[in-house]
Amino acid sequence: MSEVTQQSATITQPKKVHIETWGCQMNAADSERMLAILAEKNYALTQSADDADLVLLNTCHIREKAKHKVLSRLGILRELKRDRPGMKIAVAGCVAQAEGRRLLKAAPQIDVLLGPGKIEELPRLLEEHAASGQSSVATGFARRHTHDGDDAAAAVTATPVTTELQAPPTLSGKREISRYVNIQQGCNNYCTFCVVPFTRGRELSRSVSDIVSESKALLASGAREITLLGQNVNSYGSDHGPETHFVDLLREVASLPELARLRFTTSNPHDFTKDLAELFASEPKLGRYIHLPVQSGSDRILQRMQRKVTAAEYLERVSWLRAAVPDIAISTDLIVGFPGETEEDFAATLGLVEQVGFSFSFTFKYSPRNNTPAARYLDQVPEHVKEERLARLNALQNRITTSLNTSEIGTTRQVLFLYESEKMPGHFYGRTDHFRLVRVAAARQLTGDIAAVRITDANKTALLGELI
Ligand code: 5AD
Ligand code: SF4
Repeated sequence: MSEVTQQSATITQPKKVHIETWGCQMNAADSERMLAILAEKNYALTQSADDADLVLLNTCHIREKAKHKVLSRLGILRELKRDRPGMKIAVAGCVAQAEGRRLLKAAPQIDVLLGPGKIEELPRLLEEHAASGQSSVATGFARRHTHDGDDAAAAVTATPVTTELQAPPTLSGKREISRYVNIQQGCNNYCTFCVVPFTRGRELSRSVSDIVSESKALLASGAREITLLGQNVNSYGSDHGPETHFVDLLREVASLPELARLRFTTSNPHDFTKDLAELFASEPKLGRYIHLPVQSGSDRILQRMQRKVTAAEYLERVSWLRAAVPDIAISTDLIVGFPGETEEDFAATLGLVEQVGFSFSFTFKYSPRNNTPAARYLDQVPEHVKEERLARLNALQNRITTSLNTSEIGTTRQVLFLYESEKMPGHFYGRTDHFRLVRVAAARQLTGDIAAVRITDANKTALLGELI
């Protein structure tokens, strides 16, 4: 056999992988990373489970509802697998980590189960399953850094998925203007409601050079905006020693010439520093927006949540930000019905929301999670009270958001255009410096451009505008 035919004999049709992602941006970034790992193993993305060889569910465990969605999806996939027994099902993410083999008992149709700390092992687990016919499982985390070269450092830097030459593929299969870069795994905070330290382990920071080279690769592939991701980005680098600071990382990434906008999430008010607030004044690529979760406006509840800041300390951070950028837009996360929350505590939350004037909020009913201290508190709030408080909080926030959006009418904003509407070709969606979504009609392709837009109309969810 000639060399040429020998080679072509080894080229096989790519297998098809379908990826479904729940939960936070961290999961979206992990899904992209798994897609990149699978692409190296000759998998191609398909947008439907119906023709997939592998269906990968990247799951979220933050609230009970998120977990239920995964279980019901697994039920539908079991039916699909009955018709197509060759199809493989992999479950990744926080449900896989938290439930482990228990999930396999409830859903034996799962072929591969892997926690967020084991993403690099996906190909090995698929091979192991193919060889044994049994479900393959990997959960758990690397231990903390102790010495150079320990297993924790290896877990964060192993198998660099992205190099400067090769950007990770996108889950949509299209050029994406806005991309995520993971800078940190896990969380050391142990807020008493939160399952993250149990599903994603202790904080581990990636190196500045890895983050910069992944960012360069994404920019080379057409991205213009990068969002740095971590559970508590403000403490980035504290596991690397006193010289590594989040603000320095931001300066370094912001200096990349092709980058138009740099965002980051999630900030924790406890670790939020004044020099970070001040960076907003000197670094235009950061825009005029930040997400800063507060969770509650009541000091008593904040203390029981172990958030380590009071409402007054939160407001102090807000004042630092507003001193740097007077019209900065601030969004937040809020939980209602945390154990022991009285009407007075809830009123303090409403008061804080009014006082700060959040541009928008992610609002949640408290959901007890296994292993977390708050789930064991005896003074759980009844469901109907949580529901009623959530409705009142949402009504207030919607009023504020609508009013802030409406006050944008008549202003001119710089908009980074992210994508063209699929339903309305010729209409483009982008975001202002304040992170407000804007729709603009245009005769030319705007995706990826920054353009001046006059705001002509607004509602709760978006602004309408026209190019100047
Ligand atoms: N119940 C309700 N909301 C929660 N969050 C985290 N854990 C819980 C829980 N057990 C919310 C917090 C957090 C966001 C990502 O999800 O507001 O900031
Ligand atoms: Fe959870 Fe608190 Fe860590 Fe955020 S800071 S991930 S809420 S433990």
